[in-house]
Amino acid sequence: MQALAKRRVPKMFYDYADTGSWTQSTYRENEAALQRQKLRQRVARNIDNRSVKSTMIGREVAMPVALAPVGLTGMQHADGEILAAQAAEEFGIPFTLSTMSVCSIEDVAEHTKTPFWFQLYVMRDRGFSENLMQRATAADCSALVLTLDLQVLGQRHQDLKNGLSTPPKPQPSVLVDLAFKPFWCWNMLQTKRREFGNIHGHVAGVDDMSSLAEWTNSQFDPTLDWSSVEWVKKHWDRKLILKGINDVEDAKIAAGLGVDAIVVSNHGGRQLDGALASYDVLGDIVDAVGDKIEVHFDGGIRSGQDVFRAVAMGAHSTYIGRAYIYGLGAMGKAGVTKVLEMIHKELDVTMGLCGETDITNTGRHNLVL
Ligand code: FNR
Repeated sequence: MQALAKRRVPKMFYDYADTGSWTQSTYRENEAALQRQKLRQRVARNIDNRSVKSTMIGREVAMPVALAPVGLTGMQHADGEILAAQAAEEFGIPFTLSTMSVCSIEDVAEHTKTPFWFQLYVMRDRGFSENLMQRATAADCSALVLTLDLQVLGQRHQDLKNGLSTPPKPQPSVLVDLAFKPFWCWNMLQTKRREFGNIHGHVAGVDDMSSLAEWTNSQFDPTLDWSSVEWVKKHWDRKLILKGINDVEDAKIAAGLGVDAIVVSNHGGRQLDGALASYDVLGDIVDAVGDKIEVHFDGGIRSGQDVFRAVAMGAHSTYIGRAYIYGLGAMGKAGVTKVLEMIHKELDVTMGLCGETDITNTGRHNLVL
C-alpha cells in the first residue's frame, strides 16, 4: 500500500505523511520499538473460537483499533476524510476527524451514519475552538480527542524542501511530479472540497489557501496548559480523550482530570524528535494509571502484530495513522478497507498462535519481557 501510495500521491503530500521531525529518529524508533518486542509462542491449546472484538470508551469495536486524526487527509485522495470515515464505519471501528482536515465536520457527518470522533487543537482564538466544539456537537460527534503535543510545530525538513510551508511554495520539481500523477489529478478534479473545511469561511478575511495556512500556523497556542483541559470540559459534555501523552508524570496529571482516556503518543514522531518511542513508554504509563483510565496507544503500528504487541503490553486499544493513509492514497476507500482487513487478520492469527482466544484476555504473559 505504501509503495502504491508513493506512486499515486504527489510527492509533496506523500512526503508530508512519510516523514518525522528533524533527524526523524523518533519516527523510526516508533516502528523499531514495536518490532523489537518478541512474542511468546504457545501451542496445543484449543483456539477454535477467537474474538478480537473489544471496546473503546464504552463503544463496541470490531478490533481495538481506531483511525487516528491526520491533517490534510483529503490531499492524499479526494474526499479522503469522508472515504476513510466510511471505511471505518463499515468495519465497525471509530474514525477521528482532524481539526486540519480538508473535508469539514459537516461534510463527514453528511456522508456517514455512525457518530465519529473529532480531534481538537486549542487555538489562540478561543472563540474559534469553541465554535468547532459546537459544530462537532451539532454533527453528533461522540468524543473529542484533545491533542496536547502541538503547541509549536516540530519542523519537518522534507515539507520545507517540497515547499509545503506557510504559505505553500510548491517547488518546480513538485509541480513536474504532478504531471506523473494522473490518478491523483483526475481524482481531485472530481470534488470541490480542496480547502481546510473546518476553517474556511469561519475566519474573516481569510479566504485563499495561502492565507488560510498562514492563519492556521499562527494559531497553535503555546499557552495551552492543564487548565485548558478544564476550559475544554466547560464546552464539551461528551467523552473526552487527551492525546499526546509520552511521560508518566503527565499521564498521572491527565488521569486526575476526570477524562475518559489518554493516548500514549508522540504524534507519530512528528513533534519532539529524540523523544522516547511511544511503545517504550507504554508499559510504565499503563502501570501508573491503567487502573484509573483507559490507556490508548499510537505510533509505529504497521500490522495486526503491532496492535497485538501494544494491547498485550497493556494498551486498552490503539490508533493507526500512516497505515491507513497509505491505503487511502493507494486505492481510496477500498485501500483503507483492505488495510483494516489485513490488520484484523494478522491480529487474529497472531493472537491464536500466542495461544489466546480473546483479545481482552491478552497481556504481558504473551510477551517475552
Ligand atoms: C498526524 N497526526 C495528527 N495528530 C493530531 O492530533 N492531529 C492532526 O492533525 C494530525 N495530523 C497528522 C498528519 C499526518 C500526515 C500524520 C502521519 C500524523 C498524528 C496521528 O494522529 C498519530 O498520532 C500518528 O500518525 C501515529 O503514528 P503512525 O501510526 O502514523 O505511526
